[in-house]
Amino acid sequence: MNAPELTEDERLGLYLRRTATGAEWWRVSIADRPQTWRLEHGVQDGEVKGAVDIDLVVDAENLRAKLKKWHREGFVFEARDAGSTADAKQRVSFMPELQRATSAAAQQRANSVASAVQTVRIGHVDVPCGVPGPLVPRVNPAYLFSERFNDIVEDIVENKRVMLIGHTGAGKTSLIEQVAARAQHGVVRSNMNGQTTVGDFVGFWTVKGGATLWVDGVLPTAMREGLWLIVDEIDFAEPSILAALTAVLEPHGRLTLKEKGNEVVAPHPAFRLFATANAVGAMSQFRHLYQGANLMNEAFLDRWRVYLLDYLSPAEEADVLVRTLAPHMTPALAATLAAIAADCRAAFAREDLSSAFSTRRLLDWAELMLRTGDPERAAGPAIYAKVSPEDAALIRGIIRHHIAPAG
Ligand SMILES: Nc1ncnc2c1ncn2[C@@H]1O[C@H](COP(=O)(O)OP(=O)(O)OP(=O)(O)O)[C@@H](O)[C@H]1O
Ligand SMILES: [Mg+2]
Repeated sequence: MNAPELTEDERLGLYLRRTATGAEWWRVSIADRPQTWRLEHGVQDGEVKGAVDIDLVVDAENLRAKLKKWHREGFVFEARDAGSTADAKQRVSFMPELQRATSAAAQQRANSVASAVQTVRIGHVDVPCGVPGPLVPRVNPAYLFSERFNDIVEDIVENKRVMLIGHTGAGKTSLIEQVAARAQHGVVRSNMNGQTTVGDFVGFWTVKGGATLWVDGVLPTAMREGLWLIVDEIDFAEPSILAALTAVLEPHGRLTLKEKGNEVVAPHPAFRLFATANAVGAMSQFRHLYQGANLMNEAFLDRWRVYLLDYLSPAEEADVLVRTLAPHMTPALAATLAAIAADCRAAFAREDLSSAFSTRRLLDWAELMLRTGDPERAAGPAIYAKVSPEDAALIRGIIRHHIAPAG
């Protein structure tokens, strides 16, 4: 008698053959790749469930052959493996269900944004507009919104706390500023790698004309006025500043000004909070390059959406060079310069170079090169003088590899 043809689901479960001392079994479950099955085998002595001694993954044809063979050998389908069948059903239905949920959520977001007064489209996202004012950054028409930025822009619309991590000059600050510039939101920045005190950040009492008055710090100012606050280099912040921030990291989190009789500051709906860091989380491996950076604890990081911003791809960077230095920067010149930057970054990743090669540095070098007509001379102030002599020699070698001296 032939083994019956079974549906994909029905093949799942336990196949058992009684032996003199116990039983021998095969278990069929769904494997990781589509159209593959996992086969486990074991021998059971008495009541003791034996260990798995064979564990393999097969395709449909192979599974059919095995089922026939087990049938011939006297294995009997013992039990539909409730666990694996349920798992298998859930496994298959998860993505379609998630896709339905995602499009319903997108529709809901689109409806709520559509009801906002005015929006501007940035990448794939409609961003509600603020009002013009002196703190709105200037639009950089050469700025390139990469595909990768869509999630971040979406988070800004949804009022998530966004932390951007990445090497210096990768584009962390400019991304936030360029979204703000296009949607007309005022931006204030507070750099933690310097003299920022908790007084500057939260506020302080001062005496003026005989009267004592309170001066709001940058955090309550941004919260009250609906500005976008960028806490730059947050991995250098004092613990007291991080403590003040933590309260505000919750959605609609309020700030209590303890020094001002516990006055509570509620966030304006347009208020947004951002942080940038070079050496946090996934960037911790580069901490030696950013001396003095603190490790941030996980509970603090968990209150943010943390995005690792890598440098633009060579094609994107060449595009930025052409747009920024139009009309003189040609696509061919730009492609070579972007390739040099990519090679320098690869050398940095191999730890042959100890300095990162930022987009800022590349743009500056290119601009000076267009003025001097001499890549080597332009590299002096734009690159070599900023790095060690060893790094300068290596970068000079990379440049010469790409640019033959003028004949
Ligand atoms: N997507 C982009 N399109 C155009 N220019 C870009 C882009 N990303 C970065 N740049 C250029 O690179 C410069 C450096 O970027 P930015 O200041 O945002 O880097 P950063 O990551 O904040 O650096 P740091 O860690 O040193 O603060 C910008 O001023 C801008 O000229
Ligand atoms: Mg920055």
